[in-house]
Amino acid sequence: MDAAQIQIRRLTPADAAVYRDIRLEGLQFNPEAFGSAFEAETAEPLTFFSEWLGGSAAFGAFHDSELVGMAGLLIRQGRKEAHKGLLVGMFVRASARKAGVGRQLVETKVEFTRHRVELIQLSVVSDNEPARRLYERLGFLEYGIEKEALKQDGRYYDEVLMARDLKPD
Ligand SMILES: CC(C)(COP(=O)(O)OP(=O)(O)OC[C@H]1O[C@@H](n2cnc3c(N)ncnc32)[C@H](O)[C@@H]1OP(=O)(O)O)[C@@H](O)C(=O)NCCC(=O)NCCS
Repeated sequence: MDAAQIQIRRLTPADAAVYRDIRLEGLQFNPEAFGSAFEAETAEPLTFFSEWLGGSAAFGAFHDSELVGMAGLLIRQGRKEAHKGLLVGMFVRASARKAGVGRQLVETKVEFTRHRVELIQLSVVSDNEPARRLYERLGFLEYGIEKEALKQDGRYYDEVLMARDLKPD
């Protein structure tokens, strides 16, 4: 895949059907990468997905009008936490990986977020090397580990906590 042909744009509630497809694919094939579960979201109506797109700043990567990747951002609620954004739901379809789609999604997200929050945080399962490398390359630094952050099928997963400071120098 040629990364130059990738178009990144904000997803809107009108993208709910394609967003649901890629979201469920991610939950099904990379369950360890998400806090949510396929079994829970596959039972949800389309409005669940359109409402999520309406309430979060989600971006999609399109190739030949197919949605091949996505990333979401939640700005923390409450006066004392509104300076922080949380990168969530990062996923690139297996057929589109290792072409720079993930990098473009995170870079777009950072530029979108720069004037809205001072810090972007994320958490990534400790043995997810591709994702950790991607975030490190893009300036995210580790600041902690949450032991046994997720539990699936009786197995625990530790998560590495990472953040990128967006304050101007
Ligand atoms: C993590 C993930 C989002 C990365 O997406 P991606 O589109 O493959 O990311 P990129 O292409 O930008 O970078 C990945 C690798 O491809 C390489 N790459 C980028 N462009 C390339 C190109 N044109 N040719 C060859 N390799 C390339 C990068 O150098 C990088 O290599 P590395 O991992 O050995 O360091 C993807 O693997 C994924 O969706 N995984 C499952 C879900 C997941 O883990 N989500 C994160 C939860 S925190």
